[in-house]
Amino acid sequence: MALRLRPLHATFGAEVVGVDFAREVDPATLAEIEAAWYHYSILLFRGVAWTPAQHVAFTRRLGPLHIMEPLEFNLPGYPEVLVVSNVEKDNKPIGMKRAGWGWHSDGEDKVLPNAGSFIHALKLPPADGDTLYADTYAAFAALPEDVRRKIMGRRACFSRARFHEVYYPHLPPLTDAQKKARPDVWHPIARRHPNSGWTALYIGRWAYKIDGMADGAAQELIDYLKDFATRPEFVYRHQWRAGDALLWDNRCAQHCATPFDDAKYQRLMQRTTIEGETPLMAEREVLRPDVALV
Ligand code: SIN
Repeated sequence: MALRLRPLHATFGAEVVGVDFAREVDPATLAEIEAAWYHYSILLFRGVAWTPAQHVAFTRRLGPLHIMEPLEFNLPGYPEVLVVSNVEKDNKPIGMKRAGWGWHSDGEDKVLPNAGSFIHALKLPPADGDTLYADTYAAFAALPEDVRRKIMGRRACFSRARFHEVYYPHLPPLTDAQKKARPDVWHPIARRHPNSGWTALYIGRWAYKIDGMADGAAQELIDYLKDFATRPEFVYRHQWRAGDALLWDNRCAQHCATPFDDAKYQRLMQRTTIEGETPLMAEREVLRPDVALV
């Protein structure tokens, strides 16, 4: 079948129309979904009514699955499904609360950052709780030339240990063992996507140093790049409907969940996460051919 796609934003993102996840997706359709995912970076499917088992089985066809830690936030019986929620049962959280409130890409603070994530919206507050997505191919392409030259060939250091308590003040601090298991990691700032070959700006909230640069200058550049990557012209705001399933590529998109009144309303999302590879350094700039320069 030829996929029907509706653009979500001027530079990236598409809604995929007509895929029925209640049936086995045939290999040709799967290949089209993959190609669309690599092209558009985020794909939206509406009205999805799959079970956690179907969610896991479909995502696994896109790549090996990652099991998120700590394990306590994963769905009982489905370790591959991370529950993102403020809902409590018997006075215990059923998932990770306030996950992703801040720009990031999944696993950027790990040796092998996650390739993709596929989230399914089950319960939503009547207002707010949207998720923002930023097109980091478009951001890279729009950077001033001198900045592009400065970041080519450089790596930034991403640190879980340094920022965990800053971004997750409501979670227990990392134990020494957890800190040891999550050492600081260095990733290329101009990153080559392994499938498309295009160059994306790879930076995020866990970054704090750049190789070959003094700390002050590095911090200034990181702050600039973080702001640049999420400029309004690169951002798509997704207003959720129950049954939406959204697949994103962490190698060329950032995301940021936005707050809602979580003392009053419930929000329940289930997310599968795809294992990634060692991030590739872009050896030269390869822009997405039809990138709309904004
Ligand atoms: C996340 O995966 O970072 C959370 C996204 C969301 O809750 O919308």
